[in-house]
Amino acid sequence: MKNILVTGGAGFIGSAFVRRMVAKYPQYTLIVFDKLTYAGNLDNLLPVKDAPNYRFERGDIADRAAVQRVCEQYAIDAIVNFAAESHVDRSILEPDAFINTDIVGVYVLLDVARQLGIPRLHHVSTDEVYGSIEEGFFRETDPLQPNSPYAASKAGGEMMVRAYHVTYGLHTTVTRGSNTFGPYQYPEKIAPFFITEAIDDRPLPLYGDGMQVRDWLYVDDHAEAIEVVLLHGTPGEVYNVGGEHELHNIEVTRFILETLGKPESLIRYVADRPGHDRRYALTNDKIRRELGWEPQHTFEDAMRSTIAWYRENEWWWRKIKTGEYLEFYKMQYAERLANAQQHGGA
Ligand code: NAD
Ligand code: DAU
Repeated sequence: MKNILVTGGAGFIGSAFVRRMVAKYPQYTLIVFDKLTYAGNLDNLLPVKDAPNYRFERGDIADRAAVQRVCEQYAIDAIVNFAAESHVDRSILEPDAFINTDIVGVYVLLDVARQLGIPRLHHVSTDEVYGSIEEGFFRETDPLQPNSPYAASKAGGEMMVRAYHVTYGLHTTVTRGSNTFGPYQYPEKIAPFFITEAIDDRPLPLYGDGMQVRDWLYVDDHAEAIEVVLLHGTPGEVYNVGGEHELHNIEVTRFILETLGKPESLIRYVADRPGHDRRYALTNDKIRRELGWEPQHTFEDAMRSTIAWYRENEWWWRKIKTGEYLEFYKMQYAERLANAQQHGGA
């Protein structure tokens, strides 16, 4: 393996993977291929912009001609796909782009890989494809029961990956990661959203009763798991990647407020997300046993350093929280906040 195409590499997790791989493997060239949607940000790649083994190409994974051109130009011999519409709330408001990128785009990558004989394709999926689980932990062999348009589009993409392995013998691997947090995350997801809002003493809209459970995974751990599966995973296999740290949303919110020294009175209970999954939980048994990977960071240390990063890097997020971001904020939160209950209220 020499030239790795990282689709969606200007986003949150993709850029963490690129920063890691560029520094660790000078013998590989990392070519980022990214549409630069609202979530794509070249600032995320500033730390590697002058590295001799990094390139950037702008393009859409659903555009077959563009994907083929870049694969031929760089003699790509591995694709790692992070590109996706990734936010559940946006998928509820407007599912179209999710179908196009998360299903059609994945199909295009697979088909170009098949046509050009690209030896390896790793696809980054999510624990949301399983749906919600009241008790216990999802295993890789469990059925997929996605509940949001986002989760359903990710499940659709994964099914194409499976079909291309079984039908055409493509060397594919898939990871299903849990809720990821860290620096450079677009401030629509709960952690960076609440951190940056709390810094400005603004209200934090907690959906429903705030008792939903997510499993929290630090972004560097997620990037490392993808590296390990890309290099050592068995073709055709799927690997769960969990943080092994479950928390209720209210607990995450309290941790953020306490770390920032902000009052709990910033919390507002607002109308719930439609179809809101109650709990995500998955077991790491397979990836631990077969590949020896396990999370290296504790939630407390990693979340504290993440909060410090947002405090120290206002240049990164303040310019995002303008324009399109504010329009989305208004659509998503204005009415909910107007009808909200304050934490501790009746
Ligand atoms: P993100 O939204 O921060 O980044 C997505 C990136 O993909 C952006 O750079 C965007 O410009 C690019 N992109 C979108 N559509 C594209 C297209 N059609 N062609 C090319 N590029 C396109 O997402 P993220 O949080 O970094 O997630 C990365 C991947 O990991 C996604 O596939 C997501 O489903 C998965 N995942 C995310 C999490 C999480 O908690 N964030 C957890 C598990 C899995
Ligand atoms: O589990 C992996 C998934 O995690 C990824 O596949 C997705 O790309 C990623 O967005 C994330 O999905 P979630 O929906 O779990 O993440 P989000 O940050 O949007 O929400 C986390 C929890 O917090 C969820 O229960 C909804 C709740 N929430 C979220 C926001 C933005 C709130 O209560 N208020 C909010 O304002």
